[in-house]
Amino acid sequence: MPVIVDAFDVNALVTAAGVIRKGGLVAFPTETVYGLGADASNPIAVAGIFEAKARPKIDPVIVHVSDPAMAAKYGIFPPAALPLMNHFWPGALTLVVPKTTAVPSIVTAGLDTVAIRVPSHPAALAFLRACGCAIAAPSANAFGYASPTTAQHVAESLGNKVDLILDGGPCSIGVESTIVSLSGPIPAVLRAGGVPVEELSSIVGEIRVLIGTEERPVVPGQLRRHYATRTPLEIVDENAEVLNPSEQIGLLCLVEPANRLPYKAIEILSPSGNLREAAANFFGALRRLDALSLDRIIARPLPQQGLGLALMDRLQRAAARE
Ligand code: TXA
Ligand code: MG
Repeated sequence: MPVIVDAFDVNALVTAAGVIRKGGLVAFPTETVYGLGADASNPIAVAGIFEAKARPKIDPVIVHVSDPAMAAKYGIFPPAALPLMNHFWPGALTLVVPKTTAVPSIVTAGLDTVAIRVPSHPAALAFLRACGCAIAAPSANAFGYASPTTAQHVAESLGNKVDLILDGGPCSIGVESTIVSLSGPIPAVLRAGGVPVEELSSIVGEIRVLIGTEERPVVPGQLRRHYATRTPLEIVDENAEVLNPSEQIGLLCLVEPANRLPYKAIEILSPSGNLREAAANFFGALRRLDALSLDRIIARPLPQQGLGLALMDRLQRAAARE
């Protein structure tokens, strides 16, 4: 198994920075999900990320920086970016902007835009500062599977394919960053995530939402089937449920269900119905249900507001057939 070290230990951060400098891979905590990091300016190191995740090379990765000044080395930020950077950085917002020549093409999968964010997790910031370079990082899971929100999830998913795992505890937000493209005239949400769309529009005014589960992805990497469990998953409303008594079923729901009896296992995301708490528990709950070798997982639809939009997006992709 890979080496797991305390992300808040200074010596561990020095070791991690050494691994990055030599072109290795370090998994690190962020407030959203754990990332699988490599030196963003080293194309061979970034190629290692794609290999470790078995990720298609058409799927660009996010560049993580410690502050807006460092972001400006890699992206060309239009004036519309300023209020967003001021309000949401550090935090769960990724901005897609035209790239500079400092970004190798493998990072952006050949696109002329780059996705950049400043994470807010203190250990992520300390790691970025210790490295002194930008870190290219997708979520630290095998491609297509549920994202990791603990160091243990990373170890289970990637094993020895990662050189070092920085353990910073469970991620506080629990879903990936919201991705907003500023490459067109009107800001466009490409992925629902940790910053609710309602909060974005209160800062930028007009914003387009380009998410959904169309047959064809709107942006590279936004595949219809993603975040998938090995156990088949369906989103079923309580009133529409038809159960086969011979099946072993796991239930994923926001609050306590009316009837517990039909289910072999139940994961309640937030007893009080709080969508932030639900997001923080989401991927862990999915993974626990998936580990039970059940016949089916049934997920109850979630309210599509606040973080619920990001959670429903993940559920719909997890439920999509190949
Ligand atoms: O919260 C997060 O965003 C986490 C943590 C580790 O920061 N990272 C993450 O990365 O979720 P990943 O690889 O799982 O998702 C990155 C996605 C790509 O699949 C793609 O949809 C989008 O970001 N992306 C990256 N560069 C892009 C670009 N130039 N244009 C459009 N979309 C881009
Ligand atoms: Mg991912």
